[in-house]
Amino acid sequence: MQEQLKQLQTEALEKVEQAQDLKALNDIRVAYLGKKGPITEVLRGMGKLSAEERPVMGALANEVREAIATAISTKQEHLEQVAVEEKLSKETIDVTLPGRPVKVGNHHPITAVVEEIEDLFLGMGYQIAEGPEVETDYFNFEALNLPKGHPARDMQDSFYITEELLLRTHTSPVQARTMQEHKGQGPVKIICPGKVYRRDSDDATHSHQFTQIEGLVVDESISMSDLKGTLEVFAKKMFGEEREIRLRPSFFPFTEPSVEVDVSCFSCGGKGCNVCKKTGWIEILGAGMVHPNVLEMAGFDSKKYSGFAFGMGPERIAMLKYGIDDIRHFYTDDVRFLKQFKRA
Ligand code: DAH
Repeated sequence: MQEQLKQLQTEALEKVEQAQDLKALNDIRVAYLGKKGPITEVLRGMGKLSAEERPVMGALANEVREAIATAISTKQEHLEQVAVEEKLSKETIDVTLPGRPVKVGNHHPITAVVEEIEDLFLGMGYQIAEGPEVETDYFNFEALNLPKGHPARDMQDSFYITEELLLRTHTSPVQARTMQEHKGQGPVKIICPGKVYRRDSDDATHSHQFTQIEGLVVDESISMSDLKGTLEVFAKKMFGEEREIRLRPSFFPFTEPSVEVDVSCFSCGGKGCNVCKKTGWIEILGAGMVHPNVLEMAGFDSKKYSGFAFGMGPERIAMLKYGIDDIRHFYTDDVRFLKQFKRA
């Protein structure tokens, strides 16, 4: 019987040693230490032994059982450790794997042009002013020297909301609002970018909604030469250092005198081509000296203060600058168009 037990121990330890995984190990546990296992079997035969032999055998059987159990649990720990290591090694992240490309958006070309113009004027000491897109008739027209019934109101077909409220047709009302806030005290030096609305039929050069940037400087002894110098800096920055500007007499109710400003053609340099319609010049904005009525209505003493103002359309500037032939490209969200304007 002693032999039998020893034999069992050797056999079991050998199997434990060879066990490859936890399942095999558990099978061994059940086979050797379970109720129907060989050790239990041996112990059952103890009844036939003498009283002296019995405790010796019992102790031995327990020893064998203990040895097998210890071997199993040691092996189990080892197998578990191996399993964890294997899992960890399989789950390592390969940081050399190339990433998926991230699609980076870019500014809308109009935003880019507006920001470029803002940067230029901020650099010259201007502040950015804003006003509401739903505007009163007073600020959109009246405060700009366009009383009710003035024929020049027809130049800007409007979306009226009520008799007194409309979608602003230009950014000029921000002039009047800002001057009013200054309570007759100069200097005022602002640009006002924003959306404007006109009751136009959309085509290649018209849109019922577009963008404008207004400029206004009011101080003591501001003159036309200040306006011209400022716009020259602007034209050179936007269209190239070699550009020149010229002023042509024009009419706006809120400025006197009023001018239309042309830039020498950046395509032919002034010789005449298709871009400038053979004239050598391209119209880029409207401007003038702030009308005394406008200054007075906003609370400024027109004997002490004078000012210049200008208004431009970033769409037009962008179309000229980038050779875009249809204003609708800006609003139809075709990514193939938009992604061409990545900033450096
Ligand atoms: N508000 C004018 C328009 O939308 C543009 C303009 C012209 C603004 C002359 C001005 C200006 O400030 O002086 O047609």
